[in-house]
Amino acid sequence: MAHQTVVVLDFGGQYNQLIARRVRECAVYCEVLPYKTPLSEILAKKPIGIIFTGGPNSVYLESSPHVDPAIFSAGIPVLGICYGIQLMAYTLGGHVASPDSREYGKTDTYYDTSSVLFEGLPEKGISWMSHTDYIDRLPAGFTACAHTGSCPTAAMENPEHKLYGFQFHPEVLHTENGIAMLRNFLYRVCGAVGDWTMEDYARNTISALREKIGDGKVLLALSGGVDSSVAAALLAKAVGSQLTCIFVDHGLMRKNEGDEVEAAFAGHGLRFVRVNAGERFLGKLKGISDPESKRKIIGEEFIRVFEEESKKIGKVDYLVQGTIYPDVIESGAGDAAVIKSHHNVGGLPDYVDFKEIIEPLRLLFKDETRALGRELGLPDYLVNRQPFPGPGLAIRIIGEITPEKVAILQDADWIFREEVAKAGLDREIHQYFAVLTSMRSVGVMGDGRTYDYTLALRGVTTTDFMTADWARIPYETLDIVSRRIVNEVKGINRIVYDITSKPPATIEWE
Ligand code: XMP
Repeated sequence: MAHQTVVVLDFGGQYNQLIARRVRECAVYCEVLPYKTPLSEILAKKPIGIIFTGGPNSVYLESSPHVDPAIFSAGIPVLGICYGIQLMAYTLGGHVASPDSREYGKTDTYYDTSSVLFEGLPEKGISWMSHTDYIDRLPAGFTACAHTGSCPTAAMENPEHKLYGFQFHPEVLHTENGIAMLRNFLYRVCGAVGDWTMEDYARNTISALREKIGDGKVLLALSGGVDSSVAAALLAKAVGSQLTCIFVDHGLMRKNEGDEVEAAFAGHGLRFVRVNAGERFLGKLKGISDPESKRKIIGEEFIRVFEEESKKIGKVDYLVQGTIYPDVIESGAGDAAVIKSHHNVGGLPDYVDFKEIIEPLRLLFKDETRALGRELGLPDYLVNRQPFPGPGLAIRIIGEITPEKVAILQDADWIFREEVAKAGLDREIHQYFAVLTSMRSVGVMGDGRTYDYTLALRGVTTTDFMTADWARIPYETLDIVSRRIVNEVKGINRIVYDITSKPPATIEWE
């Protein structure tokens, strides 16, 4: 696949993946590499530009990440952001100071619009600062091209050697015109042509998959989540009838979800197997109320069902997994790779007879995966689906699971989702769902006493699901949801809203 590449060197800052996403939003392909990556390896990628991310350290600490100074004379444009600009200044002979007065957060910033970084942009705007150190002496050949009230070097440049830096974070939305500044670096300095689009990606990947797979047989475990659905759509376009998708419906999906998945994939030229295993799963879960036991039972049963079904197909050549880029990025911060374990597919390879694993989304961020799904013609309700845990509603029903409780939760959750969408909040709130607690309390409806379950609503905003804040859903919306659920769903007489962030709570209740 021929496209230009930018390398994002990761120094352990909190916005590293965000920088990479912004670059890709500018239609430029980029890869995140740990700062320790040898220069020869970076150069082998033939990057048109290199971006240093932020990081939590001070450049003067011995333990702080440093780079091979030869990176600045390789003839490739370099942009340093936050810690990145300080590292560039320090390495090239400038000086970084730790001031007494600290600038943090939204800061009035003045730009020199004769700099290529700020060409065509306003002379003044808000930028987002998150590092207290700043450059008080520039390295030779550099000039400052932005400043704030207390920071003389909010940006610097050495156009002759194509070296640039921002003290603030252009990648966060709090920085006005930040993305336009990144775009200026990419297009006006690095010579980007904008050859990273999902249309091209889809076309190239489909033909590459066709070539690789030949007339081989392909198997895919479809969970109904965004990643496996997009992977399935891609493979379906590439090899159609050679593809079998096994969709294990454990009966713990959200309302209508199983049918939606079936409608999207069945009868589209591939072999689609839906295993309705709800009774089987509920049977295994009978009497179980411990969260970890529930997860384990579902995980094991899932593998067993999948194994039985795949045996019917016989030997397959390729097993497809919907791994996406954030799962494979190795962080520059630590030496351990940050790899999320996927409940649904984690155990499969041992149980299925296959030659090789194919991961066609390995290069894509979540938003790109969604864009690719749209490009491939998947319906919006699949493409925009929020994360849903492998064990499904089993971990949103506190205590023992019964078919009645599953039905109650599905109905209540449906109303919640419908009202959040009606209020236009479904993009702002990154994950929201209902939890059926095991607590019952007294209520009064009409003239009668009720003794029913308490339902908890949960909504969070997050960038990575590792930390999250509780979503400030307007009272009016909560009010409508509460009234509708109590009126329309039998078995619930009280609604509470979860106002804990993560940490200390987790997003799911179990
Ligand atoms: P927690 O509850 O750990 O959830 O804060 C973080 C994110 O992960 C999702 N989640 C899971 N996803 N299998 C999955 O594929 C699981 O077993 C699982 N448990 C939690 C959760 O919905 C949230 O988005």
